[in-house]
Amino acid sequence: MPINQEENMLDFDGTPATANAPQGGVTGLEDLKIGSGRVQVDDKRIINCQADVNQLVPFKYQWAWQKYLDACANHWMPQEVNMSRDIATWKDPNGLTPDERTIIKRNLGFFVTADSLVANNLVLAIYRHITNPECRQYLLRQAFEEALHTHAYQHIVESLGLDQGEIFNMYREVACISDKDVFELQFTRELMNPNFSTGTEENDRRFLRNLIGYYVIMEGIFFYVGFVQMLSFGRRNKMMGASEQFQYILRDESMHLNFGIDLINQIKIENPALWTEAFQNEVVDLIKQAVALEYRYAVDTMPRGVLGLNAAMFDDYLKFIANRRCQQIGLPVQYEGATNPFPWMSEVLDLKKEKNFFETRVTEYQTGGALSWE
Ligand SMILES: [Fe+2]
Ligand SMILES: [Fe+2]
Repeated sequence: MPINQEENMLDFDGTPATANAPQGGVTGLEDLKIGSGRVQVDDKRIINCQADVNQLVPFKYQWAWQKYLDACANHWMPQEVNMSRDIATWKDPNGLTPDERTIIKRNLGFFVTADSLVANNLVLAIYRHITNPECRQYLLRQAFEEALHTHAYQHIVESLGLDQGEIFNMYREVACISDKDVFELQFTRELMNPNFSTGTEENDRRFLRNLIGYYVIMEGIFFYVGFVQMLSFGRRNKMMGASEQFQYILRDESMHLNFGIDLINQIKIENPALWTEAFQNEVVDLIKQAVALEYRYAVDTMPRGVLGLNAAMFDDYLKFIANRRCQQIGLPVQYEGATNPFPWMSEVLDLKKEKNFFETRVTEYQTGGALSWE
């Protein structure tokens, strides 16, 4: 069907700038109106904003812009990680135990589609309703990182010569994986009705529920059994390439989580009416359901102790993490006394220690580009 030129022309004839804006806030596709006034910092809001979303400055949310800069400074590519020792270990019949092989395959099976779910949620559900350009700038960077993560998992699957059909279908064939994904898909689906827009209390709460479902639960709870397991290989000098890929991914994910926490808390500040006691109870209930699902994943991927880990340790760990997530978004601790059996996980997140953690190369993207004009 030919594009209707008339309808796509920018409108300079005095039509109100918000004439075709949706109920909730601007999308960035509104008619341009000459001389309609400049964006003031105080006009900016995370959701339901009416100020132009195409102008990055003046900045209001420095934390969002800073995270964009930090994320770019942490750039990496999956092909840069040397996988040759992993390939030799995987091919050696005595290189890994059957339980260790199960863990690797299950985690690749979960993550290789989970990052696609996260990316879909970002670009199809979240992006258009975030009415702030510095936050959108970070979302675009995050979306690319999710693509890199899927790329990294695919790269591991291909390097090790795994059965691609088996790995990529795990999310529809292995219950402990599909249950987590089904839990997440409900949040994306809630926003996918074409008539959905923010701007009512009920829908703004729905949007906030989606952010909590993905940032706090998917990226903040559902990734952590897998991260501990995969990084445990590296700590034991096994599958160093795959471990290093997961290490880079964990560093990215930890920034996604922190961005999500800032986003959620800022929306709460700007829209205090959303954070009712009933909604807080609902969020606590979702977090508890997530802990149960993730614990099942731990049991299923580790029927016996392996790599110095066992499922019971994850019971404590997941409760510890859930407490932390609750505190981060202003909810009370839910599991008194839960402790962290893996204190080394926080060391992995420390960039300086990370460089000699596995004694592998870290590319310094921060030193500048590779362009030469000679
Ligand atoms: Fe990711
Ligand atoms: Fe992520």
